[in-house]
Amino acid sequence: MLRRLHRLRVSLLPLAVHVGSLVPLAILLWDFATDRLTANPIQEVQLRTGRYALILLVLSLACSPVSRMLRLPRVQSLRRPLGLYAFMYAGLHLLNFVAIDYGFDPGLIGEGIFEKRYVLLGFASFLALLPLAVTSTRGWMKRLGRNWQRLHWLVYLASVLAIAHFALQVKADLSRPVLFAVAVTVLMIARLPVVRRTANRFGGSLRRLLP
Ligand code: HEM
Repeated sequence: MLRRLHRLRVSLLPLAVHVGSLVPLAILLWDFATDRLTANPIQEVQLRTGRYALILLVLSLACSPVSRMLRLPRVQSLRRPLGLYAFMYAGLHLLNFVAIDYGFDPGLIGEGIFEKRYVLLGFASFLALLPLAVTSTRGWMKRLGRNWQRLHWLVYLASVLAIAHFALQVKADLSRPVLFAVAVTVLMIARLPVVRRTANRFGGSLRRLLP
């Protein structure tokens, strides 16, 4: 019975990822339609889409270690949708900046970047995510072979750049960027061979603790 309940919970994971990733977008659209996006709706969209992109990016990074430690191979398959949703929010974040805030005006965008230097780190993070999104298909995975794994290390660079972008933008209260930085550092440490070996040894026991 418990085993069946556990299997059902695991099979619901992909659905939870799609719903959980799309609900913030639905709420954003609803708040836009009902005029609830604060007195500065453009800024609110910028902040919310940036936040969602970073949260989903970090969650996608957590899939491999969690799947390994809890011996739940299906968690590993959530990495791709989470990464793609992160890229979708980063795309909306960029679009809001260049199209809605700056009206595709290269001069204004240049001035905006000069004024807000942290935007360059955001652009760099987006550029690091771009090849990952493009090569996320099975076809690209086969074509690139081992290089696909190497290329996907870029996700750590994208995360570090996004957190630096976040930290420089908030100015005073650094608690949120620091929290993300700690999470990404822990996830990077979890990839070290010695940590992976230890996790493999304890993985079975952890897995047995689950209902
Ligand atoms: C694509 C180029 C990017 C541009 C032009 C850009 C621009 C901006 C701007 C202008 C803000 C500040 C909004 C304000 O204070 O009014 C911001 C905040 C933020 N951005 Fe970006 N960004 C970019 C990429 C990214 C990426 C790739 C991520 C994450 C993966 C990201 C995550 C964030 C976060 C977390 C915030 C702060 C949200 C908060 O304070 O709650 N940005 N971005």
